[in-house]
Amino acid sequence: MCGIVGYIGHSEAAPILLDSLSRLEYRGYDSAGIAVYAQETGLAVFKAKGRLKVLSDLVDGGKAVHGTVGVGHTRWATHGAPSDVNSHPHVSADGRFAVVHNGIIENYVEIREFLAEHGVQFVSQTDTEVVAHLLEYYYEDDMLQAVTKVLHRVNGAYAFGIVSTDHPDQLIAVRKDSPLVLGYGKDFNLLASDVTAVIKYTREVSYLEDGEIAVLSPDGVTVYDSLLRTVQKPRHTVDWEVSAAEKGGYEHFMAKEIMEQPKAFRDTVFPRITDGRVVLDNITLDRDDVRDMDKIYIIACGSSYHVGVVAKYLLEKLLRKPVEVALASEFRYSDPIVTPRTLALVISQSGETIDTLAAMREAKRLGARILAIVNVVGSTIAREADDVIYTWAGPEIAVATTKAYSTQLAVIDLIALYLADLLGTIDKAEYDAIVAELLLVPEKMEQILAARETIQYYASIYFNHASVFFIGRNVDYAAGLEGSLKLKEISYIHSEAYAAGELKHGTISLIEDGTLVIALASQAGVLFEKTMSNVVEVKSRGADVLGITSAALERGMCKTVDSVLTVPDTHPFLQPSLNVLPLQLFAYYVSLQRGCDIDKPRNLAKSVTVE
Ligand code: AGP
Repeated sequence: MCGIVGYIGHSEAAPILLDSLSRLEYRGYDSAGIAVYAQETGLAVFKAKGRLKVLSDLVDGGKAVHGTVGVGHTRWATHGAPSDVNSHPHVSADGRFAVVHNGIIENYVEIREFLAEHGVQFVSQTDTEVVAHLLEYYYEDDMLQAVTKVLHRVNGAYAFGIVSTDHPDQLIAVRKDSPLVLGYGKDFNLLASDVTAVIKYTREVSYLEDGEIAVLSPDGVTVYDSLLRTVQKPRHTVDWEVSAAEKGGYEHFMAKEIMEQPKAFRDTVFPRITDGRVVLDNITLDRDDVRDMDKIYIIACGSSYHVGVVAKYLLEKLLRKPVEVALASEFRYSDPIVTPRTLALVISQSGETIDTLAAMREAKRLGARILAIVNVVGSTIAREADDVIYTWAGPEIAVATTKAYSTQLAVIDLIALYLADLLGTIDKAEYDAIVAELLLVPEKMEQILAARETIQYYASIYFNHASVFFIGRNVDYAAGLEGSLKLKEISYIHSEAYAAGELKHGTISLIEDGTLVIALASQAGVLFEKTMSNVVEVKSRGADVLGITSAALERGMCKTVDSVLTVPDTHPFLQPSLNVLPLQLFAYYVSLQRGCDIDKPRNLAKSVTVE
């Protein structure tokens, strides 16, 4: 949800701002803009509706803009339609301040009215514009004082980058509830919404905390707390390569990230298994804590929520404790039953999703112990949780998550085993069997990925369907939820996932001749038989059924469905880790066939930092 960048140093700022923005476009791509200051030319502001390329062409890749300090923005529109005028940066009426903003100013209407009474004429419909005018209103020569007064006045979530024509030797960064990273260079410094925007220039970073204000100059960075006392920020060295955030020969990030899943799964799981046992050294939950727990609440959004749905089946089966999966956006407002004996498992790739962050804070306030599963190191959720287990998926750029989902599932497998072992609710034979199979998952993923042409073939047959239904039971249903989301978000085909047995309670009325139903049935025994009965029900109403099953069940499925995709056998708990791959590939190839913008689907952004 919007990406912001800022540069101050001795080089031309514009090309650096544009390059950094290109790595943040996944956060929003409705419009982009930069503001750069040079003594000779003053504050130059360029903004353009559409992708970053439109802006970049407008300023000749930055060559047309001169100055060594500036800010930039890529927008996911909230207040005010995507347009040139609503694009950031927003500038105060006196032209002294330019502001870029990620987040939402919740009380902007009231501030707008106040400023209007003081003669301010607004040019945009955005919430952000009030910040530029407030800076002008409060400014009396001292940037820090003016910024502090503005912060006292605004409510909501924000990360701001601010330049001022009066203080071109200063670039200001502030945050509350929206991410902000500082990058330290030699003779220059940077601010950005995400590490990916700065690592081409520096690997030395620190993460701004809520309420902190950073003043960047070419030679240094001073960080203040909300009382304007200086704060010593710990610095971190980013240890992954720039290439990890590039396409590496693939047509799309999504294709690259799908193919990276065996490695990501290995990186996440293998270092945490020693002599056949799951070792989660860095978490502080001990046996007594786990015994005391009377409930697990899983809190997440989107695909991370779908991981939670799989997790509920696994954790309840292995731990025999009640597990509730909550959509983070609902959790906070549902008066949740949380006590100090609740373990809140918070799942988030970005670690910045505002709904998840807010729900986590609420769970914490109510006394829950927080265990977070996060991909982005140093993100807010990771920092605020009691314990964090990182998914070592590397940077995920495509808006549609793939490798982050897979590694979140992997961490759930590890946690389920770890907690069951602590509680003594799993016998040795089953524990050993799951661990052995867990170690084989990456190889089996590779087999599925190697056969991707078959999936591409089915995509070429089905890409024109107007509506698709995913059905399955138990963890197959959970994987279907994710398959359905993948398909709809990148191909714009309407799709729904249903627990197979639930379809007949209403939705089956939508099944007619030629409706595509993707049926997942990879669990042997009664679950397979019952799902196949539901398949027969939709077949009798004319559905075209593409089945997804495991090798051992292939023959049974072939008899009933029109086409089958078979994945290798594994332990039933781990089957979603394999089943999701054909679903991701199917969504990918269908969208490719439909000519969709796969990495940047319409209306979406990777990191959702607005409620
Ligand atoms: C799915 O492809 C999406 N990217 C989306 O549903 C995502 O999983 C959701 O917004 C949650 O994001 P998070 O994991 O970063 O919190």
